[in-house]
Amino acid sequence: MVQIAPSLLAADFADLGGAIRLVESAGADAIHVDVMDGHFVPNITMGPPVVASLRRVTTLPLDVHLMIEDPDAYIEPFASAGADWISVHVESCRHLDRTLQLIRSLGARPGVVVNPATSLSTLDEALPLAEYVLVMTVNPGFGGQHFLPYTLEKVWRLRKVIQHKGLPIRIEVDGGVCSGNVPDLVRSGASILVVGSQIFGAPDPVAAVRKLKALAEQCAIDPRVLA
Ligand code: DX5
Ligand code: ZN
Repeated sequence: MVQIAPSLLAADFADLGGAIRLVESAGADAIHVDVMDGHFVPNITMGPPVVASLRRVTTLPLDVHLMIEDPDAYIEPFASAGADWISVHVESCRHLDRTLQLIRSLGARPGVVVNPATSLSTLDEALPLAEYVLVMTVNPGFGGQHFLPYTLEKVWRLRKVIQHKGLPIRIEVDGGVCSGNVPDLVRSGASILVVGSQIFGAPDPVAAVRKLKALAEQCAIDPRVLA
């Protein structure tokens, strides 16, 4: 099943509870939380206290995407705050194996993230330690950017690698995801779609979630990816 994870980065930060209620009522599958530290990416967003507040208003999985330096120092506070899925960038982890094991030991689902220009080969050894790989489809730091078309082929290649290794790993995509590229992304093997501005920037976010879900459900993975 393809899942839709609305990104709160595009919501009104003065009413995050209201934003969650809206997308929850529309059938969203997870809430994507973008954590930025002003070092790893040139923007600053939110930390564990915000995640703890979000935890109190939803039962949906909180999908916490850490765009920070030294993530090891913050994984326990995010897990304690109620993060269900925690993903770290391969570019910011000196000891990726240890970091992914730490996430799992705290009861969260470990995910690993690659920037658009980072080679998939950096993931080879760590793949069995992750439950999902987040392929950035824009350069991280800001919402509302254009999807980078070359990342589509990267999703396809990663899906093939996962298939050949027989691993139960999902592919998440994040950045510039919209109704125009959802069919290609799903055909290439993405099964968790993070969507920010296309949902919260829409006049009717509920309708936007429903439309994206319906579109994703109509598409299937291309059998050539599984060959
Ligand atoms: C970018 C963030 C994304 C962003 C996606 O650094 O990781 O989650 O919010 O927003 P849109 O869908 O607007 O590109
Ligand atoms: Zn994100």
